[in-house]
Amino acid sequence: MSVIQAPRGTFDVLPADAARRAILEEHAERILGAAGYGRIETPTFESTVLFSRGVGEATDIVQKEMYTFDDGGGRSMTLRPEGTAPVCRAYLEHGMHKLPQPVKLWYLSSFFRAEAPQRGRYRQFWQVGAEAIGSAGPETDAELILLLADLLREMGIAHTRLRLSSLGTPETRAEYREELAAYLRAHEDELAPEVVARIDLNPMRAFDASDRTTKRTMANAPTLLDRLADDDAVHFEHVRELLDDAEQPYELDPKLVRGLDYYTRTVFEFTSDALGAQSGVGGGGRYDGLIEMLGGQPTPASGWAAGIERILLAAPEPPLAPPQVDLFVALATEDAARQAFALVREARRVGLSAQLELTDRSLRGQLRHADRIGARYVAIIGSEPQISLKEMESGEQSELEPRSVIPTILRGNRLV
Ligand code: HAM
Repeated sequence: MSVIQAPRGTFDVLPADAARRAILEEHAERILGAAGYGRIETPTFESTVLFSRGVGEATDIVQKEMYTFDDGGGRSMTLRPEGTAPVCRAYLEHGMHKLPQPVKLWYLSSFFRAEAPQRGRYRQFWQVGAEAIGSAGPETDAELILLLADLLREMGIAHTRLRLSSLGTPETRAEYREELAAYLRAHEDELAPEVVARIDLNPMRAFDASDRTTKRTMANAPTLLDRLADDDAVHFEHVRELLDDAEQPYELDPKLVRGLDYYTRTVFEFTSDALGAQSGVGGGGRYDGLIEMLGGQPTPASGWAAGIERILLAAPEPPLAPPQVDLFVALATEDAARQAFALVREARRVGLSAQLELTDRSLRGQLRHADRIGARYVAIIGSEPQISLKEMESGEQSELEPRSVIPTILRGNRLV
């Protein structure tokens, strides 16, 4: 019979990896908690309409990457591909607009996208994310960006780049698209054929072309940043000032387009060269129209999410301390099991980490195992009333009354 494997694009989190994830979670909890963010967890699946309406019908995510299923009662459900729309749904459902604003929430959860798997791109992946709902100010955007920068720095990711832009309003964007398409049509003979073919579909992609003549033409193309309405431009300038004051480097990237439709004004992305093709570690931006799109009152909001796997790929491997084992209880005879079981439980009750022999190894095999797992002491229980306690580092061994075993370990005393 063949061995069943995990589905393509998914992975198991084994104990060593779980330990690194726990470190990341602690940093996130501390950094975001100190800034007033409370943790939220939403369901793994939601009504499909939340994402088609929230993330945008025309996005790749909604068009081809969602795991959608019938819930058995004729209702269409989708495994969450991202966290912003669910958090906004929860904000509305629980009347959080009545709380002091902004409501600041963070999450660390798994998400699902049916993408072609590769290093750093999976079908089930984890994100840590933060959303601030109910404030329009540039301070919120700048603070969010700096919180993500802090988290990446704490994880030891040294070389990140921050790309920054503003998308203005949907109206500005629509007008700009027309203007750019007209510019491209006027320069068709200087553009690569695949760029010409995409003028109507997605004129912004022309900025990504790699051939020389297209690049030269695009250097003079109008950019969205130059077309922002006055109040959007002022907002963006304030975000930049705050980042400058905080000495957070960034690159203006007027071509920065994000894969979700809800963004307005500020957008940003942190990338790391350590990652290869999937270089985006985390990103986000302002989404002032989303709450209204989901049926609420107009409510400004801003946030980001970062991929846990990508952070861990980009972060240096910390030397992991092996888990401490204070006591290993070995069995010299078969009838020692009950006394051994009780000793291990008593040791754990006083705060020691203790393990019991759970297979049928010989005594020699048990001692070798205790050595491999790094046990500090081994208690050998046999048919004698006394217990033999061995300190592994020195190799010293002595016979103790059962009630003296745990106090001796707690004192950390030498045995002779
Ligand atoms: P996103 O850019 O789609 O934004 O995802 C954020 C991060 O999740 C990416 O930068 C990447 O690190 C990670 N990620 C995305 N897809 C995958 C995948 N298939 N495998 C591994 N990692 C992945 C959002 O999801 C928005 N909700 C962010 C946001 C929050 N905007 C405002 N608030």
